[in-house]
Amino acid sequence: MGGLVYFSSRSGNTHRFVARLGVPAQRIPITPGEHMPAPRAPFVLITPTFADGQGRGAVPKQVIRFLNDPGTRQHLRGVIAAGNRNFGATFALAGDVVARKCGVPVLYRFELAGTDTDITRVTEGLDRFWKTQFSTAI
Ligand SMILES: Cc1cc2nc3c(=O)[nH]c(=O)nc-3n(C[C@H](O)[C@H](O)[C@H](O)COP(=O)(O)O)c2cc1C
Repeated sequence: MGGLVYFSSRSGNTHRFVARLGVPAQRIPITPGEHMPAPRAPFVLITPTFADGQGRGAVPKQVIRFLNDPGTRQHLRGVIAAGNRNFGATFALAGDVVARKCGVPVLYRFELAGTDTDITRVTEGLDRFWKTQFSTAI
């Protein structure tokens, strides 16, 4: 199966979501200067959204730094985006920005730390996704 890498700010919603998935995952550090993961095998990114009113700055700076490494970026296979529906049009926008820039699909969107249904869907969805990714093309 592929890997999982995520960012979560001090509010820790995404961290709680990932912990409930119960699978190994690497965390992108909150502050620069700490060790940055550099996966060299296929992975899915989970990122929250922090846009301003105009939708700018949706992708956290540390996620941008993480994706700026071409060796990392080439292994990105999909993105799962978090947010809060109170933000309306910019809900989970970070997923769309990463998807467009990196040419990968948005696999799922959820609010805050997610619901039990989100956990079930993402668990099953990732399982299916990695099976298709790794199936031998004939
Ligand atoms: C300053 C700020 C801006 C935000 N902007 C957005 C936004 O544009 N769209 C959205 O869906 N959520 C937005 N959110 C909500 C966060 O994405 C949400 O709280 C998320 O769960 C944070 O994840 P974390 O606790 O793992 O860092 C914003 C939150 C903050 C604090």
